[in-house]
Amino acid sequence: MKDKENRYPFLMACERQPTQYTPIWLMRQAGRYMKAYRDLRKKYSFLEMCKTPDIAARVTLQPIEKFKLDAAIIFSDILIPLEPMGVGFEFAKGEGPVFHHPVREMRDIEKLRVIEPEEEIPFLLKAIRIVRKELEGKIPVIGFSGAPFTLASYIIEGGHSRNYALTKSLMYRNRPAWDALMTKISEVLIRTLNAQIQAGVQAVQLFDSWVGCLSPTDYEEYVLRYSKNVIDGVNKSASLIHFATSSATLLELMKRAGGNVIGVDWRVDIREAWMRLGQEVAIQGNLDPAVLLGPVDLIRKEVERILDCLEGRPGHIFNLGHGILPNTPVENVAALVDMVHEYRLRQK
Ligand code: CP3
Repeated sequence: MKDKENRYPFLMACERQPTQYTPIWLMRQAGRYMKAYRDLRKKYSFLEMCKTPDIAARVTLQPIEKFKLDAAIIFSDILIPLEPMGVGFEFAKGEGPVFHHPVREMRDIEKLRVIEPEEEIPFLLKAIRIVRKELEGKIPVIGFSGAPFTLASYIIEGGHSRNYALTKSLMYRNRPAWDALMTKISEVLIRTLNAQIQAGVQAVQLFDSWVGCLSPTDYEEYVLRYSKNVIDGVNKSASLIHFATSSATLLELMKRAGGNVIGVDWRVDIREAWMRLGQEVAIQGNLDPAVLLGPVDLIRKEVERILDCLEGRPGHIFNLGHGILPNTPVENVAALVDMVHEYRLRQK
């Protein structure tokens, strides 16, 4: 919802301007914890849902119709640009994504294509246009992509990994191949994010979900410049949220790579994280998603702990520290959104 002066609290918080209440959205806010999602999912595969604009738009709006969220995030996946790049994958039951031909040598990397989003992932852009139209300006829409490291890790490992040994091995053993891969992925991400902005998203989030497996030295040596290139290449008309998990040791480096907002998970104290990051960035986070499995009293205690310690400092966007868990009760999500909105009113 817009405030009295017709501005969006979510976008204002991204720019560290004061808002009347703390805005909130949730990573994975559309998904399996909602019955409406599960019902549609019985008829279509996940990728069919992503690739059909009307369905992706409908799923994006499901949580917006149910909860008073301050932003919608377009329903898609960070892996979507990889297929047209030439690394096909499938979602194997219960396993997450599986790539049958992982990329591990220079000759594989040379074959990867730098895509034209308007031609190769038009369904995503069409879904954004539908969502913008259906929302009639009520709340802003967030676009997203993976960050270079997280996408490289999927392509190299062939799926999720425990220790990222293959990714690190390529990084250490074959620097020219690593640089070539990260350069190609970065170019695809700049194009994909700018195409989403052109289609109408007002903010974008870069998900570096697995970069926390790196030491700060390796982040600085092998990753920072690529995340920075992506962020520098994204149209500044949209606010950019730079998110990672297990990033306690990387916060200052992530800030150097850029972003208006730094997204943190629950493993850090959000007040300390923001003190380290300083005045020039906003912060997003950081309720442990598992807290939503607990009783409402516990949720309230944790929400108040987070909001109390930030003392209303402008530039906080409330979110979970990572995606909402599939077995989360919907009534807890509704209670969370209301608690965050009502917190400041109760202080007065
Ligand atoms: O946040 C949102 O509501 C927007 C939609 C969104 C999805 N994936 C939908 C999805 C977003 C922003 C993502 C990002 C994403 N995808 C990330 C980064 C965020 C994070 O979680 O760290 C990653 C690593 C992926 C890759 C991915 N997609 C995995 C590993 C999986 C399988 C694990 C799982 O939860 O099933 C997916 C599938 C996926 N992406 C689902 C959804 C709703 C579940 C699909 C289903 O079975 O219905």
